[in-house]
Amino acid sequence: MRIFVAKNYHDMSLEAAKVVADEIAQKPGIVLGLATGETPLAMYRELIRWHREEGLDFSQVITFNLDEYIGLPPENINSYRYYMQHNFFRHINIKLKNTHLPNAMAVDVDEECREYERQIAGVGGIDLQVLGLGQNGHIGFNEPGVDFALSTHLVHLAAATIASNARFFAAESEVPRLAISLGIKSIMQAKKILLLASGSSKARAVYELVHGAVSNNTPATILKLHQDVQLVLDEPAAMHISRA
Ligand code: GLP
Repeated sequence: MRIFVAKNYHDMSLEAAKVVADEIAQKPGIVLGLATGETPLAMYRELIRWHREEGLDFSQVITFNLDEYIGLPPENINSYRYYMQHNFFRHINIKLKNTHLPNAMAVDVDEECREYERQIAGVGGIDLQVLGLGQNGHIGFNEPGVDFALSTHLVHLAAATIASNARFFAAESEVPRLAISLGIKSIMQAKKILLLASGSSKARAVYELVHGAVSNNTPATILKLHQDVQLVLDEPAAMHISRA
């Protein structure tokens, strides 16, 4: 695992954007796995800036997002489709048909999960998977206790995740309890992984990821078994590992 510790959130985002832009330069038709949450926002802003100012070209890029809340339609401001359109896709020259998120409104969720996996396989798999990190060590919505053998699946969100994500909603009661998430198996099949973590609230999970044993108590620890992982952290997120 390669580890880059940036001074602050801005520098972390810049470094992450560089990794993504370099990969696009090497493979214009790259398949990107993308994450939502607060952490990658400035990375997306930086990529948008490079698109506008330096012509970074997304016209052949294909994307698959990690997860989506069940029951939130695309126009709901808390859906991850809305987040991606608003914070990234509509500002770059990506083709809408090349952007994928699990369909949160699917009647048959299991079939939707299988279809999502088929679509990923159909384009040759994910080249670069961008990940955030939950405070409890989740990646995507793969919560503590998750079965590492699962591919895309229906998730019952952990109480801690509901509480943490309530900041985006009017009330905690409005946070969906269910989501569709890429599984650990799907994430581990990505050719490269770029995990971002910012802020002291992630420091414990980062410590486990770097120094702990592989355990589904902290799902991100599975990444120790992947051959091409880069962590891009800011100093607060890295505070325990740098002291260790
Ligand atoms: C959410 C998302 C994850 C994200 C994580 C961290 O629950 N499903 O994909 O990485 O939480 O979010 P944030 O970056 O806002 O801390």
